[in-house]
Amino acid sequence: MTLLELNDVTAGYGNTTVLHDVSIAVEEGEIACLIGPNGSGKSTLMKSIYGFADIFSGEVRMEGEDVTGRSPQESLKNGMSYVLQDASVFPDMTVHENMLMGGYVFNDDERANARAEELYEEFPALVELKSQKAGSLSGGQRRLLEFARALMVEPEVMMLDEPSIGLEPKYIDQVFDRIRKVNDLGTTVLLVEQNAEKGLSVADKGFVLASGEIKFTGTGTELLNNDEVGRLYLGG
Ligand SMILES: Nc1ncnc2c1ncn2[C@@H]1O[C@H](COP(=O)(O)OP(=O)(O)OP(=O)(O)O)[C@@H](O)[C@H]1O
Ligand SMILES: [Mg+2]
Repeated sequence: MTLLELNDVTAGYGNTTVLHDVSIAVEEGEIACLIGPNGSGKSTLMKSIYGFADIFSGEVRMEGEDVTGRSPQESLKNGMSYVLQDASVFPDMTVHENMLMGGYVFNDDERANARAEELYEEFPALVELKSQKAGSLSGGQRRLLEFARALMVEPEVMMLDEPSIGLEPKYIDQVFDRIRKVNDLGTTVLLVEQNAEKGLSVADKGFVLASGEIKFTGTGTELLNNDEVGRLYLGG
């Protein structure tokens, strides 16, 4: 079943058009990866799905339902979780308090605490940081917290914008292991990844975006083996 679908979406900000007639489909249970040069509109594509960008024409569908132009709050309630490229934490709150903020929609402290405990088992690196102020975390630790926090709501779809940016290899592998695991547990994943080879190698499906247009769609393997994609977008 198609979980997430963009049909001929033209979108941007105010008077600026960034995406032109973008169509993509993400199937339930997939990991889909979006790659493309800087400034090509990858983050804007995610923002247009979630409700942070303006959709000028076309439609966004989730589970067949037209969700075009929904607000971020509605998207969250709809089962979508989103880690922005420049996601952030509440620096003066502890790691644990940040986790609880991720579950604020539960409106139920006990449930939020229980969910956080489940996630600490998944992210043991966060356990020893629980009572530390989030503002004092390293970049990699912060990225892990943002990722874990986005899982508080047990999302149906998770969008991750450059989850590995700025991380040392040790953390990058952890993040990709987690992405696979979250996906194994049933969450559909849409990923933007500047490490295109890494992203496509975990993905069932990939999309190449350039100048706001989808240039290639295929399985991760097809895109990795496509000469033109390799030459233009994988630096090889
Ligand atoms: N809030 C905004 N208002 C106006 N223009 C914007 C806004 N955000 C992004 N843009 C423009 O939209 C274009 C695409 O930006 P976007 O962030 O979607 O690209 P990207 O592919 O995610 O790039 P990167 O790989 O650097 O993250 C850029 O030209 C950018 O300047
Ligand atoms: Mg971006």
